[in-house]
Amino acid sequence: MSDKTADDKLNTLLADYMVFYQKLRNYHWNVKGSEFFKLHEKFEEAYNEAADFADDIAERILARGSRPASTMAEFINTATLDEDRSVPTAEEMVANLVSDIETLNGRTSSLIPEIEETGDRATANLLDDIIDAQDERLWMFRTFLAE
Ligand SMILES: [Fe+2]
Repeated sequence: MSDKTADDKLNTLLADYMVFYQKLRNYHWNVKGSEFFKLHEKFEEAYNEAADFADDIAERILARGSRPASTMAEFINTATLDEDRSVPTAEEMVANLVSDIETLNGRTSSLIPEIEETGDRATANLLDDIIDAQDERLWMFRTFLAE
C-alpha cells in the first residue's frame, strides 16, 4: 500500500491542516469587534474539526506504512498554505479561511485518484469525508461574507 509519492502528498496535506488549524486558533484568540461572539465560537468549532482531520490523516499515513510529519518545523517546511502572522479584520479572517479551504479541498480532491490507485479505499473515503465537511464550512463562511 505504501507509495512514497502518495505518502509525501498526504504528509503535505497533513502539514497544510496543521497550519490551517493554527491559523484558526490565531483567529479564535484575536478576532475583535461586533462579530466577536459568533466568530470566536465558529473558529473554535472549525479548529476542533481541523485537528480531527489532521489526526485522521496522520493515522492513515501510519496505516499505509509511512511516518507522518510530527513536528512544527516539519509542518512549516512542508505546508503549501501560508501562516498568517498578522491580525486581520474579522471579515478578512473569514475571507482568508474561505481561500484556504478552497486550496485544501482542491489539493485533497486531486489526491483521491492517486490514493485509489494504491488500493487504499480507507484513505480515499477519509479524504471524501473531509471534503464534504469542508464544503459545508465553506458555505457557512461564504454566507457570512455575503451578509
Ligand atoms: Fe478558546
